[in-house]
Amino acid sequence: MARTNSTAVPHHVAIVMDGNGRWATRRFLPRIAGHQQGVGALNRCVQACMARGIGVLTVFAFSSENWNRPAEEVSGLMELLALSLAREVPSLKANGVQLHFVGERQQLSDKVRAGLTQAEAATAENSRLVLNVCFNYGGRWDIAQAARKLVASGEEITEMALDRALSLAHVPDPDLLIRTGGELRISNFLLWQAAYSELHFSDKLWPDFDDAALDEAIAFYASRERRFGKTSGQITPGTPQTTVKAA
Ligand code: FPP
Repeated sequence: MARTNSTAVPHHVAIVMDGNGRWATRRFLPRIAGHQQGVGALNRCVQACMARGIGVLTVFAFSSENWNRPAEEVSGLMELLALSLAREVPSLKANGVQLHFVGERQQLSDKVRAGLTQAEAATAENSRLVLNVCFNYGGRWDIAQAARKLVASGEEITEMALDRALSLAHVPDPDLLIRTGGELRISNFLLWQAAYSELHFSDKLWPDFDDAALDEAIAFYASRERRFGKTSGQITPGTPQTTVKAA
């Protein structure tokens, strides 16, 4: 029987927010209605994470591959992002959330790009919760852009150098990665950073992901013994285990 994890609450939680489309389709609504509900679920999740002392939340909002969806859904998601920025940033700022948008920005409109920059600047001094919104993001894109940066600078490609060049260098690796919607795959999310994350799959569709579902994921996490390649006997009870992050 594995010993339980000494640090019961994960510091960094990452989420693939899957199931918005099915949530809407089951109600005979357009898919974008599911994404709108998804924004509400994200707001509630941010509050719940803060209440539980989670320090970093990273969410997958739009993947590099999502451009292949119907044009109407893609433009709907772009509009939803712009609208959500206008609506949510003031309260996120007031609640101590530091926002980061992670992903390729070149393909986004000037309006959306400006909104992302403004939201990051407005919340930069906050420290209660770091919220990374992965938008036009892919794990493979991130590794490739980090490698390109190192080649351009002439720096030797080592694990630590790559780690520093990746787009989530400002936070430690995720302790717990949750995927909602019942699928058992990573879908190009945090390919590098999730190397030692505990993986939890929830059948809940993202709009239905509530505090109880988050608590279930945290309880799962607390039950795991994190060994990071060591043996069970090498783990000292009460000592948080972690991978070494580049200095
Ligand atoms: C995956 O569900 C979800 C997305 C591609 C979008 C996630 C976006 C949000 C939760 C809203 C927050 C986003 C912004 C813009 C701030 P799916 O559509 O693949 O669902 P399905 O598997 O049921 O079809």
